[in-house]
Amino acid sequence: MRLAPSILAADLADIAGALAICERGGADLVHVDVMDGHFVPNLSFGIPVLKAISARTRLPLDLHLMVANPDRLLDEYLAAGATRVTVHWEAATHLDRLLERIRRAGAEAGVAVNPATPVEFLADALPRLDYVLVMSVNPGFSGQAFLPHALDKARRLKRMIEISRLPVEIEMDGGIDRDNIAQVVAAGVDVIVVGSAIFATGDPVATMSELRERTRPESV
Ligand code: DX5
Ligand code: ZN
Repeated sequence: MRLAPSILAADLADIAGALAICERGGADLVHVDVMDGHFVPNLSFGIPVLKAISARTRLPLDLHLMVANPDRLLDEYLAAGATRVTVHWEAATHLDRLLERIRRAGAEAGVAVNPATPVEFLADALPRLDYVLVMSVNPGFSGQAFLPHALDKARRLKRMIEISRLPVEIEMDGGIDRDNIAQVVAAGVDVIVVGSAIFATGDPVATMSELRERTRPESV
């Protein structure tokens, strides 16, 4: 299991502080939510902010593009220092081409599916994917309640991946906290995004180790 804190839930007047928390807490990745006010009804980080984030940390950036035209600024997102780039299935007209561009730039390619999008739609994209991001909330905001149906989707996806024998990881994002993280891991999820359950606590660094503790096999 790898932990990817979502800095959208941190104090955004102190992004460097949020990155330091991620590093001290032993984060594996930093999850950065890019929102354009079109695909989702919210705005967050743009290219200049992404560059500044990338310059401030050695942790790999897990870029979650919640944008209507992911192909339009893709080269800029990649150049900003993303290790992984996730585009939404619902926003991608030419998914195959997008994934190929991401991989050709040397980044890992992922696709996110909204709660109402069946994971079965990804069957033919699996060979081009390094990971699939199963949304466990409707994208747009941190701090929303976890949608338990996402667990069933992760289990179905896991079976598809096993049958394909492809090295595709599963990531889950939204509403994950100390109470449900063990179930998320048990459903086959490899990379876990956590926003407010880390940053809205008094001691985010301690919370990260507590979350990790709760995913150890004996707690699952
Ligand atoms: C939702 C974002 C998530 C969010 C996670 O649109 O993609 O990454 O910030 O935050 P929590 O864990 O608070 O739901
Ligand atoms: Zn996200």
